[in-house]
Amino acid sequence: MDRRTAVVTGGGTGIGRAVAERLAAEGAQVHIVGRRAQPLARVVEENPDLAIHPHVADLTDTTDVRRLGELFAGVTVDVLVNNAGGTVKDVAPGLTGKFEDFRRTVELNLLTTMNVTEALWPALRRPGGRVVGIGSIAGQRGGGDAYGAAKAGLTGWAFDLAKVGGRDGITVNVVSPGYVQDTEFFNETGRSARHDILVAQTLLGRSGRPADIAGVVRFLASEDASWLTGQVIGVNGGALLGR
Ligand SMILES: NC(=O)c1ccc[n+]([C@@H]2O[C@H](COP(=O)([O-])OP(=O)(O)OC[C@H]3O[C@@H](n4cnc5c(N)ncnc54)[C@H](OP(=O)(O)O)[C@@H]3O)[C@@H](O)[C@H]2O)c1
Repeated sequence: MDRRTAVVTGGGTGIGRAVAERLAAEGAQVHIVGRRAQPLARVVEENPDLAIHPHVADLTDTTDVRRLGELFAGVTVDVLVNNAGGTVKDVAPGLTGKFEDFRRTVELNLLTTMNVTEALWPALRRPGGRVVGIGSIAGQRGGGDAYGAAKAGLTGWAFDLAKVGGRDGITVNVVSPGYVQDTEFFNETGRSARHDILVAQTLLGRSGRPADIAGVVRFLASEDASWLTGQVIGVNGGALLGR
């Protein structure tokens, strides 16, 4: 990763933070993006020896995404990790709320990835650029209603973009995590009834850690993965087999 430039969306917490720290620890200049300044600043403060640069942006806002693209005009981006996502909260009851939930969930989990990639596409290294989307086991087996649908949508998007990127030597893949603790997505840190059910679904008898996902993203970003594109890689402790 030495001297490479990486952009990690949602890099202030959880999986994104672990990815950012892993890439930066190997020498990359890493740009992390999120809505809240504080978690981003904390990552920078707690890693004084790493080259991590914070950027506040709401990636559901196309003005912010456009601004991000402009920021990287003239910069060569080696790795783009589209990690920002999650479930939406505080929706109204009834049909109005359902419509809002569907729209916001697809915006957050699918459109952010598509828009950010589009905005940074001209900046990606040719050949050698890497685009990694963070999907979810929910996109492969259902879960979370619109959330699973939005994550499944990443697959079709990645397949198509891999075809386009292949001509320029850019790889496009999706990492699809199972249950990962120590994230804001799954607030609980210890055990709970839900935790025990999710762990029991794995073959390895434990929840995932952000570092488990970061290691796979790091591999996809590396030279070793230069002939790997258009794939969905499940990282779920064996909770879902073969996908
Ligand atoms: N944890 C799991 O078990 C699990 C399983 C499967 C898939 N995933 C996926 O993994 C990814 C990372 O989630 P996580 O588990 O690490 O949870 P997390 O700690 O909640 O991370 C999500 C990150 O995305 C950022 N974000 C959210 N909305 C954003 C927006 N509109 N613009 C910019 N940044 C935004 C958040 O920062 P701000 O709030 O400051 O914006 C946060 O840093 C997500 O795509 C999630 O769907 C997680």
